[in-house]
Amino acid sequence: MTSIGPSLMCADMGNLKSTVRELDQAGVDFFHLDIMDGLFVPNFTMGPDLIKQIRPFTDKPFDVHLMVMKPEDHIDLFIEAGADMISVHAEAATHLQRILQNLRNKGIKAGVALNPSTPVEELEYVLDVVDYVTVMTVNPGFAGQKFIPLMYKKIQRLRELIDKEGYNIQIQVDGNIGFHTIPEVIKNGADMLVCGTSCLFKKELSLKEAVQQLNTFLEQRNPQKEGMI
Ligand code: DX5
Ligand code: ZN
Repeated sequence: MTSIGPSLMCADMGNLKSTVRELDQAGVDFFHLDIMDGLFVPNFTMGPDLIKQIRPFTDKPFDVHLMVMKPEDHIDLFIEAGADMISVHAEAATHLQRILQNLRNKGIKAGVALNPSTPVEELEYVLDVVDYVTVMTVNPGFAGQKFIPLMYKKIQRLRELIDKEGYNIQIQVDGNIGFHTIPEVIKNGADMLVCGTSCLFKKELSLKEAVQQLNTFLEQRNPQKEGMI
């Protein structure tokens, strides 16, 4: 039951349309679109116009990860651009419950992202308006970083919290998700993998080959894998 979502910030920006088409045909489950404002994180990536341009090239869900301050001010722009799912950072939202409720009211899957140091208990009083939690397994802002080992324990804690409270909430992991980290993040309760330079965008493989390699790896460890989005 593990789903694969390419992190398009790692893709060749000069060939994004063909990349999206290729990944769609290779059988990915969703597309992860990192948005950065240079304030919440010290980097910039893509904007709503780019998302609009690639929208027609796949029907798979667009999962927009807002690494921005005051995310509530920007949600409508990304919905209009074609987002199906939006995660906002708990650390950037003054009124997190209201933002998540608004996302749901607009028919968008409501996600909350947590920086590595933010405890899962932060979510205790919004679990009823959350569809998925993005556990940052690196410090947000850049691809190619190293997995933070304590995040294994955090994923397990989050899964325990969700299951104890009886919610149907998916756990997405984002950052250095590769063959060396996937078995343990799945074992501890993650079910949505954001795949960047660590397992998908590799010079030595075509995108189709990389997706096949990943799916084979998952099937060997997780025979009932099927896209769950
Ligand atoms: C980090 C981004 C990610 C990810 C990229 O802010 O949210 O999408 O790190 O993938 P990797 O870590 O494999 O290069
Ligand atoms: Zn991300």
